[in-house]
Amino acid sequence: MTEGNIIIKNAAQLVTCSGNEAKKGLQMNELDIVENGTIVIEDGVITRVGKTDEVLKTVNEEGFQVIDARGKAVLPGFVDSHTHFVFGGNRAEEYSWRLKGVDYMEIMKKGGGILSTVKATRNETEEVLYEKAYERLTSMMSFGVTTVEGKSGYGLDTETELKQLRVMKKTNDHHPMDVVSTYMGAHAVPPEYEGQEDRMIEDIIQHVLPRVQQEGLAEFCDVFTEKNVFSIEQSRKLLMAAAVMGFKLKMHADEIVPLGGAELAAEMGAVSADHLLQVSEKGMKALADENVVATLLPGTAFSLKASYAPARALLDAGCAVALASDFNPGSCHTESLPLIIALATLYMGLTPEETVTALTLNGAAAIGREKEIGSLDVGKKGDVVILKVPSYHFLSYHIGVNTVEQVVKNGQLVLNNRHLLMK
Ligand code: NIG
Ligand code: FE
Repeated sequence: MTEGNIIIKNAAQLVTCSGNEAKKGLQMNELDIVENGTIVIEDGVITRVGKTDEVLKTVNEEGFQVIDARGKAVLPGFVDSHTHFVFGGNRAEEYSWRLKGVDYMEIMKKGGGILSTVKATRNETEEVLYEKAYERLTSMMSFGVTTVEGKSGYGLDTETELKQLRVMKKTNDHHPMDVVSTYMGAHAVPPEYEGQEDRMIEDIIQHVLPRVQQEGLAEFCDVFTEKNVFSIEQSRKLLMAAAVMGFKLKMHADEIVPLGGAELAAEMGAVSADHLLQVSEKGMKALADENVVATLLPGTAFSLKASYAPARALLDAGCAVALASDFNPGSCHTESLPLIIALATLYMGLTPEETVTALTLNGAAAIGREKEIGSLDVGKKGDVVILKVPSYHFLSYHIGVNTVEQVVKNGQLVLNNRHLLMK
């Protein structure tokens, strides 16, 4: 994507979220706000941030696109650090079953759930997967997201996994969104491996991971560590092999049954441990001690009618908490950050300030990008969200409503009033 020169001036609030590393515990309340602020982006990179009169004294507006953000709050682009946005088909009907009381894991055991999306994704062409993925990214961007993490895991066989990862690479090349790719071949056990999870992990290590690595298709490796999916031992084996091959690590940990996933994430030096609805006290402490970002996905708990992750206890234990959508066709079919923010504040007890940090700097840290994005600091990428409203408080206060007006990516205005300006 090309880089732009832009000045966003007179903002009622510049919510800088300043920092180069994840904020832990109560530190997450520090947003470093500049009132009546201006930000200058040159060649896609932030070069000045401060009070409007001071910044404008030092810059000639000629050669810049200028946005007047009077009466508006300006924040770093949001980072959605956990999604599954490349998939075929849909599970609309299954969702109705769930609404009528059928359990998510029950559906999965009967070959529905993730496995039904696997079938649909295997049968879908790369072109159609790409078109759908592109549209979904535009929808995410309309909520202010400028960087998205996406996972494979709806192929489970080598070819479909690689197909999903190629689609992600192509969206990264062509959509204004930045896409960070994660290989998640150990997302479910397909019929061809039923009862042979050990063999499946072995095959992934021997045959799939090396191809993903050689073709440079993913930066992270993730695993669904869960009862009736992959055990702690199987997960450890996979993650160790992935780490040796140079992948950074993520885990779907302690989502449904408390297996000790958080403890394993800490042991393995994972960048993030995600879900954590059932995390133990020992697990929380381990995450804090090893600087593993605790990524919470309240949309999933909401959609599964499960209890929420213990966000306040994680913060009290000194963890860095990130929030993400977990957008996927099954357990959480929403990319709506306004919904995530409402759930995080009303049901997980996060403050509005902690919520903003969780979606910016800590989201960036959850994908190892805290030095490049996640705050409005000089030297970082010019990824910016301009709200229609004068303060970040409206993000939680205007419940479930999108307050984003404009999105700037690499110093270019890419989205205006929810319409993508560039293809
Ligand atoms: O993060 N927990 C496992 N994986 C996804 C669900 C994917 C699906 O239901 O298709 C998740 O919730
Ligand atoms: Fe997930």
